[in-house]
Amino acid sequence: MKNSRIAGLGHYVPSRVVTNQELETMMETTDAWITERTGIKERHWANVPEESTSYMGAQAAKAALIQAGIPEGEVDCVIFATLSSDYFFPGAACTLQPHMNFSGNIPAYDIRMQCSGFVYGLQMADAFIKSGMYSRILLIGAEVQSTSLNKSTAGRDTAVIFGDGAGAAVIIPTDDPDNGILAHAVHAEGKYAKELWCEGPSPLDNPRVKPVLDDVNRYYPYMNGRYVFKHAVTRFPEVLKETLDKIGKTPADLDWFIPHQANLRITEAVGQGLGLSPEKVISNIHKYGNTTAASIPIAWSEAISDGRIKRGDLIGLAAFGAGFTWGSAVIRF
Ligand code: UT7
Repeated sequence: MKNSRIAGLGHYVPSRVVTNQELETMMETTDAWITERTGIKERHWANVPEESTSYMGAQAAKAALIQAGIPEGEVDCVIFATLSSDYFFPGAACTLQPHMNFSGNIPAYDIRMQCSGFVYGLQMADAFIKSGMYSRILLIGAEVQSTSLNKSTAGRDTAVIFGDGAGAAVIIPTDDPDNGILAHAVHAEGKYAKELWCEGPSPLDNPRVKPVLDDVNRYYPYMNGRYVFKHAVTRFPEVLKETLDKIGKTPADLDWFIPHQANLRITEAVGQGLGLSPEKVISNIHKYGNTTAASIPIAWSEAISDGRIKRGDLIGLAAFGAGFTWGSAVIRF
């Protein structure tokens, strides 16, 4: 049985940078509050409709394929992780296709596992490779969150956190059992769905489309921040250790830990709890905010571009988010 390895990574972020100071002009917030509570200094907002989730995903995908040295026409499967598809349906894995030069009508899978989407996608890609079903898999995490946020003071707890962007990985088979995706674990606990969610639009509304929105707040993301925070700081280390255990390794064996970029305080607490030195923990939340399914591949791709992550490094990923969902993967890059 083949192993699966990461042949290349890429990322794309919109050119528009929104600083904390700019948010101060929209709502009652301060750069000091946002920096202290989240570590975020700025984020990128997409220029829609041009910079859609599928468009940004395509730009990240093209960069990943160039790094992998694999032509677009060789891709035989797309897995797209996002909570912000361009449309209610069809999903972004399909609307990606007109932006790409794929050959033939390759299959397109959408996964809706929010902040854990990229890790869930890695597990799925690994299973596809191991089964022999596909051999050139494009895994994308991309989000346009900025258009869904309540940018008034009422929405400040979420509006200051989320950002837009895309990251992608190309996953291919390898005969080397010690290289590539070595272990993974994913979980979900749906009883907490309403602690971090966006209720509308919903098929439970009858009729779903109303001439006047009766409660506009149902269309904005809601997060029970403190509650999510408490679960996150427990689940991140728990699932990373579960994954490392499967291959007889410990956090000390990791060259790098790339957590989903949820909050700098979460990243620091988890890193310390795992006994990792801060230099081993990748954090770029100050530049991008929380880009949900895109955050891990953006951070990973950036750390390759700037020369930190190198081939042969042992990398641990962990994510936690809406659902609740969480997961981890350990990769010999
Ligand atoms: O990616 C998925 C996973 N997501 C996460 O893991 C995020 C987890 N949660 C968090 O990161 C944090 O809970 C937040 C950053 C969302 C909030 O930080 P917090 O330290 O938990 O603050 P809080 O919600 O307890 O609010 C403290 C105060 C409140 O005022 P009062 O009630 O004490 O008067 C809020 O109204 O801060 C206020 N506040 C703000 N003030 C200025 C909330 N948002 C803001 C804001 N600017 N943007």
